[in-house]
Amino acid sequence: MSARIDLGGTVALVTGASRGLGRSIALALGEAGADLALAARNREDLERTAADAAKHGVRAEIFLADLTAPAAIEALVADAERAFGRVDVLVNNAGIAGREVPVHELSAEDWDRVLAVNLRAPALCAGAVARGMIARRRGRIVNVASIGGLTPLARMAPYCAAKAGLVQLTRVMALELARHGVQVNCVCPGYFATPMNEEFFATRAGQDVIQRSIPMRRLGEPAELAPAVVLLASDGASFMTGSVVVVDGGHTLT
Ligand SMILES: NC(=O)c1ccc[n+]([C@@H]2O[C@H](COP(=O)([O-])OP(=O)(O)OC[C@H]3O[C@@H](n4cnc5c(N)ncnc54)[C@H](OP(=O)(O)O)[C@@H]3O)[C@@H](O)[C@H]2O)c1
Repeated sequence: MSARIDLGGTVALVTGASRGLGRSIALALGEAGADLALAARNREDLERTAADAAKHGVRAEIFLADLTAPAAIEALVADAERAFGRVDVLVNNAGIAGREVPVHELSAEDWDRVLAVNLRAPALCAGAVARGMIARRRGRIVNVASIGGLTPLARMAPYCAAKAGLVQLTRVMALELARHGVQVNCVCPGYFATPMNEEFFATRAGQDVIQRSIPMRRLGEPAELAPAVVLLASDGASFMTGSVVVVDGGHTLT
């Protein structure tokens, strides 16, 4: 599908592009013709994504950034804008699951870490790119939230609270930026096979979760999320803003 959407002349900044869903999203955006600013902390993994994206004939540059640091986010956006001249599309994908324990066993540090990566970072990143987008009256922001932002997942309170916040951040920013020509949408993935959860889903308990809670009875493959993001990054989404696109094999139906 991404091969039929033309993102030529578009500059996309993808956070968490070193592996998992972010890598897959970056490759699909590159396949559609977007030049890529790829951000994460692991240089080697980012370089692999960049090299694979470049096979599509696009320009792909890596930017090392720990998104828990607000100054690093400002620097990331400034560096990407300097390198490419502008950022047309931001995909806020970087995220962490956090420790899986009930709320009464969580520490302040557990809360701070998950909220910093999964909510504060995308908010600051979106704010930083929005300034340039408003000036150019053009831009698309796609947030990677989660079904955990729509439905409760036991032992994952910080994650669910952060992702619910990210869904609502999407809607607030969409409302604020619509008149400036900037669209803000989010995708809510269900369970996908990535390094974030491969250990759990390899266990008996993980297999039980798949059979019990996913009507399609399988995990998603990363390449099955990317087309929704490519669409939201493209003119195909020209009248979409504040949308919450669920890609979950039917998980939230149960
Ligand atoms: N997999 C799923 O089933 C699933 C379901 C729903 C939603 N999601 C969401 O999808 C997104 C991607 O998840 P994934 O499964 O692909 O996870 P993953 O394989 O663990 O990848 C996470 C990415 O985020 C980056 N990252 C983490 N902490 C960071 C930090 N402090 N600064 C900069 N980058 C950071 C990682 O890069 P470095 O380690 O190199 O920094 C990596 O590229 C997340 O927002 C996640 O919540 C995933």
